[in-house]
Amino acid sequence: MHPNHLRALAAALATLASAVTLSAVQPAITMTPFGTLRDGRAAQLYTLANSHGAKVAITNYGGIVTRILVPDRDGNLADIALGYDTLAAYEKDGATTGTYFGALIGRYGNRIARGQFTLDGKTFKLAANNTPGGIPCALHGGKVGFDKVLWDAAPLVEKDAAGLRLRHLSKDGEEGYPGNLDVTVTYWLTDKNELRIEYLATTDKATPVNLTNHSYFNLRGEGSGTILDHVLTLNASRYTPVDKGLIPTGQLAPVAGTPFDFTKPHAIGGRIETQNEQLLFGGGYDHNWLIDRGSAKSRALVKAAEVYEPVTGRVLEVLTEEPAVQFYCGNFLDGKNAGKSKIAYKKRTGLCLETQHSPDSPNQPAFPSTILRPGERYETATVYRFSAR
Ligand code: GAL
Repeated sequence: MHPNHLRALAAALATLASAVTLSAVQPAITMTPFGTLRDGRAAQLYTLANSHGAKVAITNYGGIVTRILVPDRDGNLADIALGYDTLAAYEKDGATTGTYFGALIGRYGNRIARGQFTLDGKTFKLAANNTPGGIPCALHGGKVGFDKVLWDAAPLVEKDAAGLRLRHLSKDGEEGYPGNLDVTVTYWLTDKNELRIEYLATTDKATPVNLTNHSYFNLRGEGSGTILDHVLTLNASRYTPVDKGLIPTGQLAPVAGTPFDFTKPHAIGGRIETQNEQLLFGGGYDHNWLIDRGSAKSRALVKAAEVYEPVTGRVLEVLTEEPAVQFYCGNFLDGKNAGKSKIAYKKRTGLCLETQHSPDSPNQPAFPSTILRPGERYETATVYRFSAR
């Protein structure tokens, strides 16, 4: 063939290939069955894909993010979210170990002291489903929190993002909380390799609301060892010290000069074994940092955290409208939970950055209020942004 013809043919083929690639890489969402709950209801698994090949899988059971596939510095994808490969394993979790892998947490993320609070003169009793240091408290919404309900789901596709809208009506009195709470959570996987989570709730009676997501990250890939060499930065100059029951003392303490100072990057394992009462109570890091929001407006996304993994170069940035973040480094993981790759998740093999209001706010008048009243809208967003360097 004449070289000119060859070049023309090659050009035509390249155009065709790029057209095919283009049409194949638009943001998309697929749905597959994820199994049947003990009560017979079917759950689905939704896989969101963006145009760069990143993927996030979410089940409408608990709104659980089961997989997050993002590239390292050489473009290799790995699943960086801890989790199980079956619905049954998620359903069983909590009865014994309570990891809350990847789940939506509500109505109140984090702890409420003694499992009770008083609102407008009335005392509400919640299930005391957690006993750190032998002291009972309410944790993450109760016995059947939002991590254990089957959400209504609707897939969404936009030009530059694939999404999943989840809805749950939490009934008046559910888990002891007042008011019918209508909750909508929308997950987006954007073409900027961001997992954006939008929370919306309204109520017909005053109630505490503090929603979050409980994904555990290991940026080297789930099942590949501890996260102690991950380098963390927290945009927070204060945190809330806790008592031995992991309830805030009410103090907003400066991090300066303590192992809680992540205002400059530090390896998570660098100071974790320091003799320090707070590290002893938490069994490591399991505390709430107050994000330095400066003069940012309440609905502005502010960078709360950055995590860098040196081997793969993966970076996770966390941006949020919330005032605080719970940094939990998987101290309670005990190797009893075999994950997706059949590798047991041992102590500190995943880390959580749960954006939220501080623990026990309903009993802490000095903390920003978590009370939602009829006619108001609870609206907040958090972005987990993935990149590599
Ligand atoms: C975290 C909490 C930890 C632990 C974990 C679930 O949000 O801070 O103390 O309860 O959830 O195992």
